[in-house]
Amino acid sequence: MASRLLFCRVLLLCLLFGGAQASPGEAETRARIEFLQREIARHDELYFRRATPEITDAAYDELKRELAALETAHPAWAIPREGVTFGDDRSGTFPTAEHVAPMLGLDKVYTEEELRAFVARVVRASGRPQPAFVVEPKFDGLAISVTYRDGRFVRAVTRGNGREGEDVSKNIAIVRGLQEGLRGERSELPRLVELRGEIYMTWDEFRRINEEQESAGEPLYSHPRNLAVGTLKRIDATTLNRQLDVVFYGIGACEPESARPASQHALLAQLRAWGLPAIENALAATGADDVSETVQRIGGERAGFPFPTDGAVVKLDEVAAQREVGESDSAPRWAVAFKFPPERVETRVRGIVWQVGRTGVLTPVADLDPVELGGTTIARVTLHNAEEVRRRDVRVGDWVTIEKAGEIVPAVRGVNLARRPENAVPVAAPERCPECQTPVQRDESAVALRCPNPECPAQLRRRLVHFASRAAVDIRGLGPAGVDALVSAGLVKNVADLYRLSQHELPSRWRGKDGERLMEGIERSKRAELWRFIHGLGIPEIGVVTSKVLAQRFRTLSALMAAAPEHFVADGKPVLEGVSLSAGSRCWRSWPTNAIAA
Ligand code: IVH
Repeated sequence: MASRLLFCRVLLLCLLFGGAQASPGEAETRARIEFLQREIARHDELYFRRATPEITDAAYDELKRELAALETAHPAWAIPREGVTFGDDRSGTFPTAEHVAPMLGLDKVYTEEELRAFVARVVRASGRPQPAFVVEPKFDGLAISVTYRDGRFVRAVTRGNGREGEDVSKNIAIVRGLQEGLRGERSELPRLVELRGEIYMTWDEFRRINEEQESAGEPLYSHPRNLAVGTLKRIDATTLNRQLDVVFYGIGACEPESARPASQHALLAQLRAWGLPAIENALAATGADDVSETVQRIGGERAGFPFPTDGAVVKLDEVAAQREVGESDSAPRWAVAFKFPPERVETRVRGIVWQVGRTGVLTPVADLDPVELGGTTIARVTLHNAEEVRRRDVRVGDWVTIEKAGEIVPAVRGVNLARRPENAVPVAAPERCPECQTPVQRDESAVALRCPNPECPAQLRRRLVHFASRAAVDIRGLGPAGVDALVSAGLVKNVADLYRLSQHELPSRWRGKDGERLMEGIERSKRAELWRFIHGLGIPEIGVVTSKVLAQRFRTLSALMAAAPEHFVADGKPVLEGVSLSAGSRCWRSWPTNAIAA
């Protein structure tokens, strides 16, 4: 906040004194614009393609607002984005397709007052004294438009920019409920219909995947929506063993028009008759009091829903009344989304530590006075990276607001400057690795700090935990505490050392039967499939999919180890789909071969 104040002051000085000469603030502002553009593009990439967003939607909106304000104030300094529109869900991975009827969004309201004003406006514009409303849960996923011709599936297209989205039909095999055709007599089915709905991930599926991540020592996904988006948008989605769901709630183009249901509740009934999953929990309401109570009712029940929700959608029921009220360019005037407030709590930062990951990336983590939030006790929260620490200016001793906007992983929403202790100082990014004291390096994006020492004990511990995890070679009985014990005793310095252990030298926690079990687990892990071993090595950019490609291509570990860079090319193309040859060869050279020699 303080840095932002300083920044605003600099900006004001620029505006007052800025002339033909480059003012002192110009370079700073240009740099800030450039930084914001890069940062927003990076978050889009994380959100839409990798499904691992680092910041909350609100924090993302904040970055966009700051950039828009700067670009409006300095149109000459704005850097052309070459056709990139932020927030557009198109990732370039799939062919684009035009919607027949545009896909509109929804206007949002956040307070009861705004909700009542919406009802009053719609009642007035509808020309009816007591129009009926339908209140539905707002599913938190990814909007989709599915076209059926004569009852046959044609394509599934994401919203994109509303006019044109991405055709993700190739991936619909992983979406339960998107069967091939509509049920019913062909003569009674519409010639063409665009059905609108949401692709989402159930809480059960989300938890299952996160449990797998956890046992593999991989970072957890923060929200089922992000994971649903990231999954559907992956070229290899069908190989991932992930389940998505769809629910329908709307209709776009419909031919003939006479086949269009006359009301929202009739549409939901029709969708069900066609055999499609439609919203089950839609409620009828009339008048502002009733609408408001019904929205609150959904708010009260939503914790028990098997799907993620972030609000309730209020729609005028009758299509004739909807037409009367009309729409704007971006949203219908007859519907609104009421967003439930996120859960928040204030607590104190006890300390900030820099954790070293298995690839050496340093992540700042705030230790908190433990607080209850949304049913769990929060004692730590990630601050993601050095840039985020600088941007938020979180200091030790600060009171921070922790928010859980449906997220499993809570995030710092803001710092309460009024409660900042006088002696609080900005957190400096470490110059050296907190574990092994090696000078840290910044990665190309200048956002992440990395310990470059492959022998760093912290990295070693994390690598061993990953190697022994269920997602890799699965050494039963060897978890983080066991790895700590082996490393502290100096018995294990790399993966290969695990296979040189003898039972009599194991630390005391493995006396007797436990030691036998561990030795058995290590022995059994030698029979793990080759791809599990490759994945277990934790080489940057070599995940499960690439490990499987490598294992298939080279068959044995010795063939893989003997491979020269040119062996990574088949038919003039790198064998590692999505991984460039240079990335592949760099990894092998930088990886200590003695670790593989086991
Ligand atoms: S109706 C023309 N109903 O929320 C009206 N949308 O923030 C179009 N959403 O783009 C939308 N649940 O992706 C509608 N029951 C529901 C919904 C819903 C989730 C999504 C939809 C929309 C977004 C707006």
